[in-house]
Amino acid sequence: MAFLIWPPVLEIGHEQIDREHFELVSLLNRAHAASVAGDQAEALDVLLALERYTEIHFAHEEALMDEIAYEFTAIHCSEHRQLFFDVKNMIDDSSFGTTDVAAVSQFMQRWLLRHIAGPDLLLGEALARVSPTSLLPTSAGSYPLSGSVQEGG
Ligand SMILES: [Fe+2]
Repeated sequence: MAFLIWPPVLEIGHEQIDREHFELVSLLNRAHAASVAGDQAEALDVLLALERYTEIHFAHEEALMDEIAYEFTAIHCSEHRQLFFDVKNMIDDSSFGTTDVAAVSQFMQRWLLRHIAGPDLLLGEALARVSPTSLLPTSAGSYPLSGSVQEGG
């Protein structure tokens, strides 16, 4: 897995959600860096933080869906539940040394990119239609960039 450079094309146009997606990517990169450095304990700590942050982030997205009576709430939430279930199982396995932490990071990176590029962008469009005043201009440069996210390779 390579470090993930945040692609601005994946911004959904909602400032808070975009900031949270960026934070998820930052955590993934930190987990990857620790794994590459051979620090499995640190990698696992970061993955656990990522798991907690993911739960909070999903709750925020789902609250927004409720707020606008989003028509695709059920399917979107079921993707969230499935990801959380899969990652939780993988991390629990990691605690016992049966799963490579890097594999969890890689799984999560693929899932996140696919999910943000699909269901989350659709949600962003729905938020824009219902409440255009809640949309604030965002760009990667406005985020508190951490070194691990800016680096590629
Ligand atoms: Fe989502």
